[in-house]
Amino acid sequence: MLAFIGGTGLTQMPSLELVGEHSASTRWGEASAPVQEGVLAGQKVLFLARHGNPHVLLPHQVNYRANLAALKNAGASAIVAANAVGGITERCGSGALVVPDQLIDYTWGRDSTYFDDRSGPVTHVDFSWPFDTALRLQLVDAFEQLQLEPVNGGVYGATQGPRLETAAEIERMERDGCDIVGMTGMPEAVLARELELPYAMLSLVVNPAAGKADREITMAEIEAVLHKGMDAVHAVLAKLASMQE
Ligand code: HPA
Repeated sequence: MLAFIGGTGLTQMPSLELVGEHSASTRWGEASAPVQEGVLAGQKVLFLARHGNPHVLLPHQVNYRANLAALKNAGASAIVAANAVGGITERCGSGALVVPDQLIDYTWGRDSTYFDDRSGPVTHVDFSWPFDTALRLQLVDAFEQLQLEPVNGGVYGATQGPRLETAAEIERMERDGCDIVGMTGMPEAVLARELELPYAMLSLVVNPAAGKADREITMAEIEAVLHKGMDAVHAVLAKLASMQE
């Protein structure tokens, strides 16, 4: 079953016809919310609000291990994660929808593996390509079927937050090759990989990253773009659901 993780601006899926809820309790602790199971575009899907519903958990407070484990326990076979990001490179302007194909992790101090309980053999997962290629391409296909154009590929830089970055940090990230910046992509992506769940990301650019516009980044600006862009995110996720057999 396809599962969606909704981030800022996507704490609910209004078009989901709810059929049940799965427990938020896992051996890794409590997920941000119970996992909803419902029908979207004729297909059964799962939905989890990353920051809880209502939105209360900051990015570094999210129990990513519990979230991913709860989705797996509920029967997820693949995950598409939606998130709001800042835009760094020119092709990722406000309002752009990005399907990244790489990431760089700048987070610290988060529980970022399932393999630290010393009960099994030492395991290092391959993470050369952090997003599942087939799922990414399906997502891009869903855009195309709606005659929408995503930014296909790009590097997601995951920062610790909750503060936004300095202009110098964004300059460094741009030198590193980052196109967009967000606070939740890691360890979410690697935990999905450890659970062998194909994972892809759909990122809505809600503001120019620090230093990329000569004005302060305000929550009002972010919310205005979020509000406008979320309709497209919902439409793409519904189209993707309809493409599952
Ligand atoms: N930086 C980090 N995370 C974000 C941003 C940003 O500019 N905008 C939305 N999430």
